[in-house]
Amino acid sequence: MWSLLLFVIIGLFGSEISVDALNCTIRPKGNPKFPKNFKFGVASSAFQIEGAWNADGKGLSVWEEFTHKYPDLIKDGSNADDSVESYRLFDSDLKILKDLGVDHYRFSIAWPRIFPTGSVHLRNQKGIDYYNDVIDKLLANGIEPIVTMFHWEMPVELQKFGGFSNSLIIEQFLDYAEELFKLFGDRVKTWLTINEPKELCKAGYGNGRSPPSIVAPGVGDYLCFTNVLKAHGATYRMYREKFYEKQRGRIGLPCNVNYLYSKANNTDEVAKAMDFEFGLMAHPVYSKTGDFPPTVLKDVEKNSLAEGRKRSRLPRLGKYWTSVIKGSSDFLALNYYTALQIEPLAGQVNADPLFDDKDSSFVTSMFENCPRAASVWLYFVPQGLEDLLKYIRDKFDNIEVKITENGWSDAGGRDDYMRIEYHKNHMQAILNAINDGCNVTSYGPWSLMDSFEFTMGYTEKFGFYAVNMTSPNKERTPKKSAEYYKKINYEKDLYV
Ligand SMILES: *[C@@H]1O[C@H](CO)[C@@H](O)[C@H](O)[C@H]1NC(C)=O
Ligand SMILES: *[C@@H]1O[C@H](CO)[C@@H](O)[C@H](O)[C@H]1NC(C)=O
Ligand SMILES: *[C@@H]1O[C@H](CO)[C@@H](O)[C@H](O)[C@H]1NC(C)=O
Repeated sequence: MWSLLLFVIIGLFGSEISVDALNCTIRPKGNPKFPKNFKFGVASSAFQIEGAWNADGKGLSVWEEFTHKYPDLIKDGSNADDSVESYRLFDSDLKILKDLGVDHYRFSIAWPRIFPTGSVHLRNQKGIDYYNDVIDKLLANGIEPIVTMFHWEMPVELQKFGGFSNSLIIEQFLDYAEELFKLFGDRVKTWLTINEPKELCKAGYGNGRSPPSIVAPGVGDYLCFTNVLKAHGATYRMYREKFYEKQRGRIGLPCNVNYLYSKANNTDEVAKAMDFEFGLMAHPVYSKTGDFPPTVLKDVEKNSLAEGRKRSRLPRLGKYWTSVIKGSSDFLALNYYTALQIEPLAGQVNADPLFDDKDSSFVTSMFENCPRAASVWLYFVPQGLEDLLKYIRDKFDNIEVKITENGWSDAGGRDDYMRIEYHKNHMQAILNAINDGCNVTSYGPWSLMDSFEFTMGYTEKFGFYAVNMTSPNKERTPKKSAEYYKKINYEKDLYV
C-alpha cells in the first residue's frame, strides 16, 4: 500500500521529483502502534457547514455580514448561506460519521443561532433543540461530542461594541459559556473555548483580512489576545466553581501553531520566534509562571517606546488576570497544518501575511521543496508536527495534547492520494512523538467533509467526504481518504 501511494505521488509531481527524496516524508521511529486508549476523530465548524443562515430565528454573525457585504473578498464570490446544509441534513452527517467509525466529532455552536443578539436574555429555542439533537444522536451512536464554543461567529450585535477589542466581551462570553454548560454540560465533557486566538486576532484585528476587518497590526491584535485570554480564563474558573463537581468535563484553548525552523539552525532564533508564534497564546495559560513570554513583553515594550508611545502596545494582564489565566486548561488543543522557516528581519519586508508584525523581527518563508496543497500557505512538512510536540513536551511540562485540527486541501476529486499521504505522515509524526514520551491522546483532523473555507469560499477542499452541491440533498460521498481513515479508526493501527 505504502509503495503504491508513493508511486502515485511521484506520478503527480513528475517522475524526477519524489517527496521522499526531498526529505518531506517522515521516518517511523519506535513502536508502530498507537496506545490502546488513543482516540481518533474528525472536525468541523458551524458557520462552515450548517447553512440555514437566517432560519428559525437565528441571528447574524460577523461572517454572514462580511460575506454578504464583500463577496469580492471571497475567492469564488460565494457565501455560507446554505453551505452543505448540516442544519437540515445532520442525519447525513451522522451517517458518514458512523461510516468513518470515529471516536469523537468536534463541531462548534453558532452563538447567534441560540442567542440571536449574543445576549443570553433572548434565547432561540429552535437553535437549542438543534444542538440537543446533534449531541443526543452522537452519544446514541457512541461518538463523543467535542464542542467548540466560539469558532469566530461573533454575533453582529456584540461586534457593534467592538467584539474582542472591548473588554466587555469577557462578561458577555462568560454568560454565553455558562448557558452552554447549563444546556449541554450534562452530556458534553470536552469543551474548547475560543478557536485559534492567533488567527482570530491577527486576521480580525491586525491585518483586517477577516471580519471584523479591523486594520491595526501590533495594536488591535494584542488587545484581542488579552481579551480572548481573559474570556477563556474566566470561563475555566467559572466552570470549575459552578459545574465541575457535577459535570466532570474538561476544557481547552485550541491554538493554531506553525512550527518554525531557523534557516541558520540557530536554536535561540527558534525559541524567540516561537514565543511570538505560539507563546502569545500558550505561555499565559500553560507555563508555570503565566503571563506573556518575557521576550515578547520586553521586545514589544522596547519597540513601542521607540515609536514614542507612552506604554507598550501589548496591554499588561496584571496580577489578577495572570493568575486567573495561568493553568486554565486541562489539556492543550493543537491545530497544526504546516511548518515555516525563519531568518532575522534585517531590514527585509516580511512577505508572510500570517506573520506580519515587526515585533517578532523575523521573516518567514515556506518549505518550497515540499509538496504544496491547494492553499498557498500549506506545505507538506510532517516533521514539524513531531518537533512541535516535543517542543510542547519540554516547554509545558508534558501537558496532555489533543490534536484538534490537521488537514490537506486540494481542488476536489475522490482520488485524493495526497490527502492520504498527509494524514498518514502526520499520524506517524504523532506516533514518533509518543514513542519519545510526548503526551498526545487524540487526533481529530480537518475535516469531515468539504465545506465553506472562509475567504477561500468553496475553492479549497479539506474533506474526507465530497458533497454534491448541485443536488437537493447534497449527498456526501466518501473519497479514497475516507476509506483509508476508516481503516485506521477501526484498527487503531497505522500499519493495517
Ligand atoms: C543543527 O544544530 C544541531 C546542534 O545544535 C546539530 O546537531 C545539527 O546537525 C544541525 N543541523 C544542521 C542541518 O546543520
Ligand atoms: C499526561 O497528561 C495528563 C493530564 O494532564 C497527566 O495527568 C499525565 O501525568 C501526563 N502524562 C505524562 C506521561 O506526563
Ligand atoms: C449531483 O447531483 C445531481 C442532481 O441530483 C446529479 O445529476 C449529479 O450526477 C450528481 N453529481 C455527482 C458527481 O454525483
